Amino acid sequence: MEEALLRIREIRKNFGGLRAVDGVSLDVAAGSTTGLVGPNGSGKTTLFNIVFGIHKADKGSVYFNDESISHLAPHEVYARGLVNAFQLPRLFYRLTVLDNMLLAARGHKGDSFVNSLALRQEWQEQEMKLADKAMELLELLELDHLSLHPAAELSGGQRKLLEIGRALVSEPTLLLLDEPAAGINPNLGRRIFEKIETFRQKGLSFFIIEHRVEILLEFAHWIYVMDKGKIAVEGKPEEIVNNPTFYQVYFGEA
Ligand SMILES: Nc1ncnc2c1ncn2[C@@H]1O[C@H](COP(=O)(O)OP(=O)(O)OP(=O)(O)O)[C@@H](O)[C@H]1O
Ligand SMILES: [Mg+2]
Repeated sequence: MEEALLRIREIRKNFGGLRAVDGVSLDVAAGSTTGLVGPNGSGKTTLFNIVFGIHKADKGSVYFNDESISHLAPHEVYARGLVNAFQLPRLFYRLTVLDNMLLAARGHKGDSFVNSLALRQEWQEQEMKLADKAMELLELLELDHLSLHPAAELSGGQRKLLEIGRALVSEPTLLLLDEPAAGINPNLGRRIFEKIETFRQKGLSFFIIEHRVEILLEFAHWIYVMDKGKIAVEGKPEEIVNNPTFYQVYFGEA
């Protein structure tokens, strides 16, 4: 794998007296699927929220494409192509699958209503392009046959895929996913990771928190194991499963 797309350096975050993230440094290589695992409360989501600019770190820096993003607001991080699939507002269940995709795209272009009227022709062309792109993504996610159905009709797994699709309309370079396989059956969970892999092969990079460790180990190139706010172990999946520290972190004694 090539150079680091995301670099996290010495990040610390306290909540009152609690050290939620305690000096974390890590890299996400361009073109990789990088995994972040660890027991409940080990600081994984807090670390993600710092990357997105939702929380400010007490100490440390985050670099994306060699640019410091530590002081950026969430929408500025998003605009640079670093996107969290589950940060957008929840799905609109009464709207169609396609409309959910289009709203995700529009919501972030910053168009004003007046602008849309003034530039009607251009606006219509943009809408057509957007709809084409949305349909193309839905096809890749195998949701195209449901494009005109209300999102409420989707299964749990399909809803996750739609959320990922909504993140993809912004054409990100790095997607951070916090538990994409949570709450759905293991077979569907694996299918979601297979879809993620097809997008990775098209050039995207992924940084994924997942409690379904067995699925993540199958797809990730590099795994970080977090425990009590620190990185306890890192390595290739095959190294992680042979590392006693990994089992200690999860099950106490080795
Ligand atoms: N906004 C907050 N205010 C106070 N404490 C918080 C806040 N967010 C998280 N914490 C605490 O920080 C610690 C780390 O939480 P975090 O959500 O990052 O863990 P996690 O690794 O994502 O856990 P899980 O696997 O259960 O999602 C926990 O002890 C949590 O209770
Ligand atoms: Mg979490």
